[in-house]
Amino acid sequence: MLTLRSPAKINLFLKVVNRRPDGYHNLASLFQAIDLSDQIQFSINKHYCADHLTCTDPTIPTDHSNLILNAADLFRRKTGFAFGLEAHLEKNIPHQAGFGGGSSNAATTLWALNQLHGSPFCPSELMQWSAEIGSDIPFFFSHGTAYCTGRGEVVQCLSPLKQTNLWLIKPKNGLPTAAVFNQLNIKNLSNHDPKQILDSHIKKTPLYFNDLEQPAFDLLPELATLKQKLLSFGFDTVLMSGSGSGFFCLGDVCPSTHEDALLYKTTFLNRSDEEWY
Ligand code: C5P
Repeated sequence: MLTLRSPAKINLFLKVVNRRPDGYHNLASLFQAIDLSDQIQFSINKHYCADHLTCTDPTIPTDHSNLILNAADLFRRKTGFAFGLEAHLEKNIPHQAGFGGGSSNAATTLWALNQLHGSPFCPSELMQWSAEIGSDIPFFFSHGTAYCTGRGEVVQCLSPLKQTNLWLIKPKNGLPTAAVFNQLNIKNLSNHDPKQILDSHIKKTPLYFNDLEQPAFDLLPELATLKQKLLSFGFDTVLMSGSGSGFFCLGDVCPSTHEDALLYKTTFLNRSDEEWY
């Protein structure tokens, strides 16, 4: 049995570059892993080839629509190995929040399956395979800080950023990723140069923005109200992560709890070369 942490992520900035002929969008985004994490127990059975997933949260599907079992299918397809996966997911990362919980679970599963088979494949191979089942999954094979382009799957690893006071807020209503991208008005994108913004983060004078905030606010207007309320607490920055509906807040503030929203105090998380998070 192997137990691994499966961390969440935030997008410190997210620029949508354009809409692609395949329906996806090219992005340029600074991803950072954070220590709000799920925990997953894995074991494999080489004689019995059916998978079995259980989860502490009854609202999470445990059939093959779950990215954990999707990742097991991918691993079997890529390696030709025969095994059944037994996994138990302790769910702490809120879903439909833009915190990458499902993607992280998939990456963690590929890492675990490789380890349980004696680590025959290198992380860069797992990273490459993982793009087939989700755009945000490859990021988790970086060391926790990366500049991601393409659909999100082109990952440039970066050195860890300076720690900062960080809060996450998850409003009651979530947002499906595809709905937010569909709502995006491609004529209303920011004209920030992502390379310059990346440089501002590396030089510790960061600029935070997310081109998916406006379409998310169009779908759920209460998110714009919540953002203003969080700013009124005195935070320096309040920004939606990914396609929402979760926010991260930066600043030396201790926010009061907000009705209908979950609040988490967290930190940036990076991993060392050979170990998972
Ligand atoms: O790749 P993933 O399955 O996470 O994407 C979910 C949905 O989000 C896609 O079907 C697509 O509608 C949208 N998406 C997008 N551009 C991206 C990533 C996701 O349009 N770069």
